[in-house]
This record gives sequence, C-alpha cells and structure tokens, in this order.
Amino acid sequence: MKASTLFLAHLVALATSTAIEPRQQATLCKQYEYWSGNGYEMNNNLWGKDSATSGSQCTYLNSASDNGIAWSTTWTWQGAPNNVKSYVYSGRQVAKGRKISQISSMPTSVSWRYSTSVRANVAYDIFTAADPNHVNSSGDYELMIWLGRFDVYPIGQSRGMVTVGGQQWDLWIGMNGNMKVFSFIAPQTTNQWSGDAKVFFNYLQQSQGFPASSQNLIVYQFGTEAFTGGPATFTVSNWSASVS
Ligand SMILES: *[C@@H]1O[C@H](CO)[C@@H](O)[C@H](O)[C@H]1NC(C)=O
Ligand SMILES: *[C@@H]1O[C@H](CO)[C@@H](O)[C@H](O)[C@H]1NC(C)=O
Repeated sequence: MKASTLFLAHLVALATSTAIEPRQQATLCKQYEYWSGNGYEMNNNLWGKDSATSGSQCTYLNSASDNGIAWSTTWTWQGAPNNVKSYVYSGRQVAKGRKISQISSMPTSVSWRYSTSVRANVAYDIFTAADPNHVNSSGDYELMIWLGRFDVYPIGQSRGMVTVGGQQWDLWIGMNGNMKVFSFIAPQTTNQWSGDAKVFFNYLQQSQGFPASSQNLIVYQFGTEAFTGGPATFTVSNWSASVS
C-alpha cells in the first residue's frame, strides 16, 4: 500500500516536471549549429555576434512533428546597441525553384513569449531571389512580419499603415545592401498569430511592384533578432508553416 502510494507520487512528479519543462531534443550552442527534421530546420544563427562586447546564446529544440515545432533560445548580449547580434530561427524547408507566383498559400501559426524585457524583435524572415540557388543568408528581397518590436527599429522609413490579411500593419521599406526589405510591423505585440504569408506578397505585387513571377522562395523562417539585454529566454511553444 505504502509502496504503491510512493510509486504514484513519483509518477505525478514526473508528469508535472515533463509538462513544465519539456525534454530538450537538441541543444545548439555553437555558431550556426543546425538541426533539421519533419520538414523543419533550426539554426543557432549568431551572425552579428562579433559586434558584441560580450554575450552568448544557446538554442533548444523541445519537440518537432510534421504539424509544428517547439523551441526556445536563451541569450545575453552587451555592446553595440543598434547592431543585431543574432537571428536564431525555425524554418520551413522549402523546395528549390518555387516561384512566388506559383504559390497559392503559405499558412502559418505561432505562439511565443519573452521571459523578460530586452531590445529585440520577434519576426518572420522570408527571402526571395531570381536565382533559385541563392544562398540562405540573403535574397534580392526580404519580407519581414514583425509580431514584436522591443525598442528597436526596422530598416528604412515608415510608409504608414496598410491593411493586409484583414489586419493593420506599419509598413517600412528600405535597403540592406542590394536587398530590398519590406517590414510589416504589428502595431501591438502579438504573442499568438495565425495567417498566410502569401497575402503579404500579393499586397507587395499589387502596390510595390514586387516581381512575383521571377522571384523564387529561398527561406521561410520565424525567430528573434537579438540586439542587447538578457539573460532572457524566448520560447516558441508552437510554430507551424507550410507552402502550397
Ligand atoms: C501546432 O499548430 C498547428 C497548426 O495550428 C497544429 O496543427 C498543431 O496541432 C499544433 N501542435 C501542437 C503541439 O500544439
Ligand atoms: C543555411 O542552411 C544550411 C543548411 O542547409 C545551414 O547549415 C546554414 O547554417 C544556413 N545558414 C544560415 C545563415 O541560415
């Protein structure tokens, strides 16, 4: 009797700790350490870390299935307040040579949170290029959808509020080297969102001359650009994305 009660208590404790802290399936701490599975990928992409005076960042895969991916990243960065230190992301693996005009929808949903206040954004990052074999670190065009903006600014200038996918966004346009960047900024922090990234391309094709029939989808990612602050943990409890 006593033994079985103890056994039950142990099982309950185990179940509780599993619910609070899911077992990590992969730990990525090295620069550009990479994971892929179930049509998704993840990258501890600390591309701007050399501008920091100090700091570090590790990324954890919590679960992955064909229906979505759960992950988190913990970071601290100091120095160069206006430089991006990292863009750690989850990405949907995309077929090469898929023209934007040949895509009918890019449905996605996400739920995320930051443990503490930092200087960072939380954003989708989607590159397109005329060359289907373009490298995955840039494109001819970059579409960003910002769900969180914490004391940092997008590239370029605001063109005012626009309505896309039935929601209002502050549209910023600017150049990052040779790449034209369109950033749609949610007016309020949006911890849960579901939408269709393709409707942003439809808008850009109609109102900004985006050449959808010659641009290939290169990457389709969601993550956080870290500037300064921490220690902080960014948790994505579920991100799903697909292309059809
Ligand atoms: C993640 O989101 C997708 C799309 O909404 C859903 O199909 C899936 O069941 C979710 N996964 C979890 C673990 O909640
Ligand atoms: C590009 O993708 C490869 C895997 O195909 C990965 O190893 C590399 O780190 C990625 N680079 C960036 C900047 O995301």
